[in-house]
Amino acid sequence: KKSQAWSALFSEPMSELVKRYTASVFFDKRLWAADIEGSLAHADMLAAQGIISAQDLADIQRGMTQIRSEIESGAFEWKSELEDVHLNIEARLTTLVGDAGKRLHTGRSRNDQVATDVRLWLRGEIDQIATLLDDMQRALVAVAEKNTETVMPGFTHMQVAQPVSFAHHLLAYVEMFARDAERLADLRKRVNRLPLGAAALAGTSYPLDRERVARTLGFEAVCQNSLDAVSDRDFTIEFTAFASLVMIHVSRLAEEIVIWMSQNFGFINLSDRYCTGSSIMPQKRNPDVAELARGKGGRVVGHLMGLITLMKGQPLAYNKDNQEDKEPLFDTVDTVKDTLRIMAEMIGGEVAADGSRGAGLTVKAEAMEAAALRGYATATDLADYLVKKGLPFRDAHEVVAHAVKEGLKQGRDLAELPLATLQGFHASIGEDVFEVLTLRGSLNARNVLGGTAPAQVRTQIARHQARLG
Ligand code: ARG
Repeated sequence: KKSQAWSALFSEPMSELVKRYTASVFFDKRLWAADIEGSLAHADMLAAQGIISAQDLADIQRGMTQIRSEIESGAFEWKSELEDVHLNIEARLTTLVGDAGKRLHTGRSRNDQVATDVRLWLRGEIDQIATLLDDMQRALVAVAEKNTETVMPGFTHMQVAQPVSFAHHLLAYVEMFARDAERLADLRKRVNRLPLGAAALAGTSYPLDRERVARTLGFEAVCQNSLDAVSDRDFTIEFTAFASLVMIHVSRLAEEIVIWMSQNFGFINLSDRYCTGSSIMPQKRNPDVAELARGKGGRVVGHLMGLITLMKGQPLAYNKDNQEDKEPLFDTVDTVKDTLRIMAEMIGGEVAADGSRGAGLTVKAEAMEAAALRGYATATDLADYLVKKGLPFRDAHEVVAHAVKEGLKQGRDLAELPLATLQGFHASIGEDVFEVLTLRGSLNARNVLGGTAPAQVRTQIARHQARLG
């Protein structure tokens, strides 16, 4: 009795080591629901085309219903000697329904089967990730909404640069995640194409109706070249590139959260439930979640490198190398989903069934404002003031440099220098200078599209809210 799908030709069984080395069932069993869905669509088409009988189809459907409930209840026995998810399910089907089970693989190969399964599975995950990306943006917008007037120092080179609102800062991340969502929607179109019908590599001699299978499975299109259909894994690379960008955006935000929570900044606080303590230092509350989110970026970028390298140099068509696409892809999906979920909750609070939000991060507006006052953040505003009084910008820049030098000497902010002192740097400086030297004056002045003025930021918030629903 043959113990393997191909073994009539073989005079000896596979070595134990080879079995273990080549088996994928312990990770690819995760594709089981897609595998059954794909098989049912294939069988339905085979029957419609008169390639198998209506009775065969009914038997296959009955068997698959039972297999589904066995897997869901945990009763299904996965066998590594059956190598992968496809052969495990097919073998069980044949045990349950006999010859109809053996007819299922007509006009099909595991090569087009696995490509179909991965695409179906990934499509479902993509839709969940799209929702999580929206949730992440909503969390950021919710915090932004309350902080259009909260002034913090904006940085370049990590040096205090100009005042910005905390809302404006958070909305920068909303833009990044919005672009990620666009990328995801775009790549979904290329994931959502049907390889089935390519068979092993050349197509098949049975009169398959591939368009029908595509419709049944909700694919937007059919892969048009059988060699490409079975060997293309671009879609996994594209997805992982998308995921790498998401993780890099998360990582930048996580890094800022870590910095903001440090005692030396003290801009924010995180709820205890998102922090951990130290086993030795009793005073510690560490932002481990943000640190891990930052760290997990490395893992996803690593998967991108792995998948790209996996594809490089593979001749057409299918090669077993492609079995190696699954673990990195699965781990990428898991990591992105968990990371988006936990970061959105930590920032914006957990969303209850009624849409209300629990405690997210606490904003320490006074500390932010004090930090903005320390670094001469309004120096550019003074230069702009002088330009309005008629100085060329380069000259104004030089005048202000002298004023800052004096401020540093006296240990005072520009707004704290007496008018007479300021006038010593340029005679055109008048009493009205103090309005532009305030943080709020500086913020309000940047009333250009995309700028940090509260009026602009409120417009952006409204746009995001309308877009995110
Ligand atoms: N487990 C295999 C994979 O992941 C399924 C396809 C195997 N095809 C084959 N001819 N060995 O790629």
